[in-house]
Amino acid sequence: MNSAELDRRAREILAANDRGGYTVPNGRVYPFQWNWDSAFVALGFDRFDRERAWTEIETLFKAQWEDGFLPHIVFWKDDPGYFPGPSVWDTGRQPVTSGITQPPVAASVVRRLWESATKAGESEKWRPRLEALFDRLMAWHRWFRDFRDPEGRGVVVAMHPWETGRDNSPEWDAPGEPIDVSRVGEYTRRDTGHIDSKMRPTKLEYDRYVALVQYGRAQGWDHGRIAAGNPFRVADVGMSMILLRANRDLLALAELLGRDSEADELRAMVGTAERGIAWLWDEAKQSWCSRDLLTRRSSGFVTSASFLSFYAGLADPEKDKAMLTHLERIGAAVRFLMPSLDPHDPGFQMIRYWRGPVWAVVNYMIGTGLEEAGHESWAQRVRGDTRTLIARNGFYEAFSPIEGTGSGGGDFSWTAAIWLAWAGL
Ligand code: DGY
Repeated sequence: MNSAELDRRAREILAANDRGGYTVPNGRVYPFQWNWDSAFVALGFDRFDRERAWTEIETLFKAQWEDGFLPHIVFWKDDPGYFPGPSVWDTGRQPVTSGITQPPVAASVVRRLWESATKAGESEKWRPRLEALFDRLMAWHRWFRDFRDPEGRGVVVAMHPWETGRDNSPEWDAPGEPIDVSRVGEYTRRDTGHIDSKMRPTKLEYDRYVALVQYGRAQGWDHGRIAAGNPFRVADVGMSMILLRANRDLLALAELLGRDSEADELRAMVGTAERGIAWLWDEAKQSWCSRDLLTRRSSGFVTSASFLSFYAGLADPEKDKAMLTHLERIGAAVRFLMPSLDPHDPGFQMIRYWRGPVWAVVNYMIGTGLEEAGHESWAQRVRGDTRTLIARNGFYEAFSPIEGTGSGGGDFSWTAAIWLAWAGL
């Protein structure tokens, strides 16, 4: 397929996964609205339907809780093809939602939507909608500060591997050990009915996921109580870098809208993170790594999330140099960047979800960060690899960094969106 055909195919995928105001990541495996999927999807819609792009984000925020929390799944309609469905979460909300969140990419996306509207000379038309979304985003970012950063370091402490969006990364293995799975009970996974189980998390990982859902439900989804007693509490390097970036983008929007007190608040959040995020630097590994809040131990894993430091705008010459050394080593070991796990790690598996495969959305953030930091040739490699993976194999959920073949579901919304917004340009 040539570029025009791929563009057309990407639009067809978004149209086919559009459920009217929101888009499912993939109709069979993920039949609801997912938080960060929707944000990336809006970038894709923005290439050909600005109205639809804004609506995607607005629909997501309709499910925001009064304390600012934004759920990772919104169950607008039930679907028996997914586990755990709305009755398992039992959050008692309308619309029915999950009780955990996901990486906060929405503010960065909204900033891009705004810039694109401004470029088209339509800023006045979209300003009221930006104003409304700004308040929603601000409330969500405050929620992270108030419920997910107990030590005030400007990091994000995840309460569930699903919150990180990188479900089965080995970073969660050791911190997951204290999770008691003995009373999880019987349940039927749906994911492995749709996808080869070699590409999905293991039974033990799923037991832990379910146990944590049961724990949250037992706390009545009170986020203060969960943060104080959850058996899994990990400062995720991915969410922390993404939030820092999102706070910078929200600050730019606050300044533009003349929201002075919110701008001050955001400057404080950015400042806290710029100082505190160093806690996630692993001196022995010379890399950004997730850290277990409970044991204080660094995961020691170099993952694709480690490279989001450029996207976060950290600009620390020594640490950047160390990350570029990792990039060179990894870039020489795989055909396609960026593997979700260091290919030299003994646990690397080229087709198993977040233990090896390349994800287009992560590449978009890494590539954007590298470009902004002036590492043009690396940025081009990441973008070129993403383009080749999609053009040769299709719009898969993820791809093998060694062979390039698709992994997980096909006709995936966020892969189509990243093609339209970045890789295919
Ligand atoms: C899943 O069900 O695999 C999702 O990643 C949870 O968000």
